[in-house]
Amino acid sequence: MAKQFQKVRGMNDVLPERARLFDHVIKSFMQSAEAAGYGHIETPVIEDEALFIRTSGEGTDVVDKEMYNFEDRGGHRVALRPEGTAGVARAYIENGMASLPQPVRLYYIADMFRYERPQAGRSRQHKQIGVEMFGDPNPSADAQVITLLARIYRQAGLRNVGLQINSIGDQTCRAKYRKDFVDYLEEHVDKLPDLDRDRLRRNPLRVLDSKDPVTQEVLNDAPQMLNYLCADCQKHFSGVLEYLDELGVNYEVNHRLVRGLDYYTRTVFEFYGQREGAMSALGGGGRYDLLLGELGTKPTPAVGFGSGVERIVIEMEAEEDLPLINEQGGVYVASLGEPARLAAFHMIEELLDAGIKACGSVDKDGIGSQLARADKLDVKYAVIIGQKEVKEGTVLLRDMASGAQETITATEIANELAKRL
Ligand code: HAM
Repeated sequence: MAKQFQKVRGMNDVLPERARLFDHVIKSFMQSAEAAGYGHIETPVIEDEALFIRTSGEGTDVVDKEMYNFEDRGGHRVALRPEGTAGVARAYIENGMASLPQPVRLYYIADMFRYERPQAGRSRQHKQIGVEMFGDPNPSADAQVITLLARIYRQAGLRNVGLQINSIGDQTCRAKYRKDFVDYLEEHVDKLPDLDRDRLRRNPLRVLDSKDPVTQEVLNDAPQMLNYLCADCQKHFSGVLEYLDELGVNYEVNHRLVRGLDYYTRTVFEFYGQREGAMSALGGGGRYDLLLGELGTKPTPAVGFGSGVERIVIEMEAEEDLPLINEQGGVYVASLGEPARLAAFHMIEELLDAGIKACGSVDKDGIGSQLARADKLDVKYAVIIGQKEVKEGTVLLRDMASGAQETITATEIANELAKRL
């Protein structure tokens, strides 16, 4: 027997029922981002591997363990993008967007690739919605990026979304913190599990992210970054919180929040859904004022977020009364008898030409099973054509909810439906 192919581990098919939710999230994201002055950007799936190593950072899981990297046929080291910020920052520089009026606001909907251990809400290819704002150093920019993401979750119908926020300082204050933090952990290193010892060696701040109960206990008495912020970082952080307070946005300051990528400075934030533990953040982001300078252009402040569409959809599916997304209002064309079949076939095309959502199974089935199918499809109306209707140049218009039927002239039906739907 021929081999039955299966999807590669960690990859997902998204079937129409779920894809509808994906599309809903993406459409509402695009509308909200456009309304807030963001322009759509598409960057390649494949970038120079070194771009991600330079930006996300050596010692992060994303770079060390999860990258889909390989040598292409020309011998270049490339990678499938694990995240969106690096590519968009590269495009901003490479396309001279620094000379545009600042800030430059960009948004993307893009597939990301990370070789992670697959589970619900964690796959090796995931679709992300994200924004990046370049050129605005002010706390109001951070707050606006956060409220944009909060709005997208609201519009998706999610009601129990929590926001955690922290500041991880800048190059001056973080160095001092890092030293004291490492000194503290070194004193307790014998208690730490292997994984966290390894983190301590390679990327110490990542220890803050540890889920290990023993590490958590050690961390209880560890120095806290918020006590180390320099005056400027302190002022920036208070500014962001004040703007959020101003808008009545609820948040929790979590002094252990560090995020899994190295490019952040100052503000970092994450949103969580109600499915605690099952998956990590719904979305997250922060400020990365040093990244563009590190990519060899003039220092440019920047802030943004990314959120996995599948994680949003999983949360939507868990909501009790999801806003009605199924676009109702379509028409099912049913027919009875030979000449009527052809009339129905024409009718479907005519309705589609008029911009009306229409379908029908022209080639088979009795009228009963056709109407049952119309019911399943949740259409508002069925157009029924039998031999009598063909002869008289009419159709029966059936209101699927009430079952009421009326006779309408065939040439009038497109207009009539356009009015009613
Ligand atoms: P991130 O936190 O690594 O940030 O990813 C953003 C979001 O992508 C996560 O919160 C999650 O919703 C989703 N995500 C990540 N990995 C997976 C996965 N394996 N399966 C499903 N969903 C996943 C970034 O990528 C930054 N570029 C965000 C950013 C933009 N920061 C500033 N600007």
